[in-house]
Amino acid sequence: MNVNGSRIVNLPKFTDPRGNLSIIEELKEIPFKIERTYWIYDVPGGERRGGHAYKNNSEFIVAMSGSFDVHLDDGKEKKTIHLNRSYYGLYVPKGLWREMDNFSTNSLALVLSSTKYDVNDYIRDYQEFLRFKE
Ligand code: TYD
Repeated sequence: MNVNGSRIVNLPKFTDPRGNLSIIEELKEIPFKIERTYWIYDVPGGERRGGHAYKNNSEFIVAMSGSFDVHLDDGKEKKTIHLNRSYYGLYVPKGLWREMDNFSTNSLALVLSSTKYDVNDYIRDYQEFLRFKE
């Protein structure tokens, strides 16, 4: 997989008859310090989230429950990654266009972010994104 540094990261998984356990530590499984955590849930069938890029924010996305697709685009190459397990996640470095869709019923997308929320960090216009990538 090669859309500008994005990659699937397998997380530690302790399988146990009592139930499994997985872990994320900052600067270990993910290459940044976690400044913010948010999650996307109760997504109605057919809805899309994202549809923007960040100039500085990098993210790590995990399907904690259910499944969804993440579409990545670096301005030249596009990739779709289906996330459906809580023991791996998708590292999305800054500067990629991303959209999420195909959410299953009761899916839960956890997003760890490298920066605090900043409305000025968003590029929401795709043509502007392509100019930004030139
Ligand atoms: P947005 O990032 O546009 O969601 P998505 O990428 O899934 O389409 O955020 C939706 C709303 O939530 C927007 O009005 C701003 C608010 N928001 C925050 O206040 N803080 C945050 O950390 C995030 C991610 C969103």
